[in-house]
Amino acid sequence: MNDWQDATVVATQDVAERIRRITLRPTRPVQGRTIHPGEHLKVQVDIGGKADQRSYSISDAAQDGSELSLTVFHTPNSRGGSVFMHTLQVGDTLRVTAPQQNFPLRVGAPRYVLVAGGIGITAIRGMAALLRRLGADYEIHYAARSPEAMAFREELAADHGERLHLYLDSEGSLLDVPALIAGINEGTELYMCGPIRLMDAIRRAWEDAGLERTNLRFETFGNSGWYEAQTFRVNLPRLGVSTEISTNETILEALQKVGVEMMYDCRRGECGLCQVTVVDVDGHIDHRDVFFSDRQKDSSEKLCACVSRVVPRESLSVAANAQLSIDVP
Ligand code: FES
Repeated sequence: MNDWQDATVVATQDVAERIRRITLRPTRPVQGRTIHPGEHLKVQVDIGGKADQRSYSISDAAQDGSELSLTVFHTPNSRGGSVFMHTLQVGDTLRVTAPQQNFPLRVGAPRYVLVAGGIGITAIRGMAALLRRLGADYEIHYAARSPEAMAFREELAADHGERLHLYLDSEGSLLDVPALIAGINEGTELYMCGPIRLMDAIRRAWEDAGLERTNLRFETFGNSGWYEAQTFRVNLPRLGVSTEISTNETILEALQKVGVEMMYDCRRGECGLCQVTVVDVDGHIDHRDVFFSDRQKDSSEKLCACVSRVVPRESLSVAANAQLSIDVP
């Protein structure tokens, strides 16, 4: 259940290129417990005058829970949530939930590997700090576009020294996923948060290596796919509905806009509640969820409407949009 409350913006700070930390003071702060790594807030955002929800990891929290910070990347092809978050000024009020936990760190493993891609560091940084305090055996692998786009780089280097491994696209130093997974022993737990390509590569390598599935834990931001977002058309033959999906909205949002009742929860491709049945597709489905297995994605009988999209087949002319026919539960 979401328990909504007001929160006031008490500080904003740019911490890297296109990345801003926004500190909030909720009216009903958590009491009697500390905020744990992996917790997030749901936030009501205003997108073109329409209320919507987004989830952001809590990157910092005051000891008494009176202030919480969210660190938000201004996504280049944002659907509007990160644009709204970057307009917030000190003194503004917004609606947030109490902290929620979907990505808990299990304490007591013999070894930990933490992997962050880009803004995924917001969830991973807190885990690394806790593991350090506990004296655990851990290493951090952090990849980003460039040094300027790498939030908390200096702080992490100072706190974690040789345990921190950095990878920069701009310098051609890329994370070698097969080598990383080859070095993992039984019992090691891997926590990752980042773009779907990175997480998918790790998940496949993990499965190929026959490692314990429950030792691989992840959180996604649900907005990065295999292909650039393109406009496409969605048809619901049973309901006689047809609508265009623009590059900055999801199937779920577009169908809600035209009055189709949809089930959903996470809006990040994790829970599967928004799944729809694919009746026909003229194009290629860009599955952006982490809910369906590879086999289910290959068969493309269903997709998660909150994140997945369709791109044209190469044989379609440049001007032709992809089409998707679906049915909803
Ligand atoms: S709402 Fe959770 S996967 Fe779409």
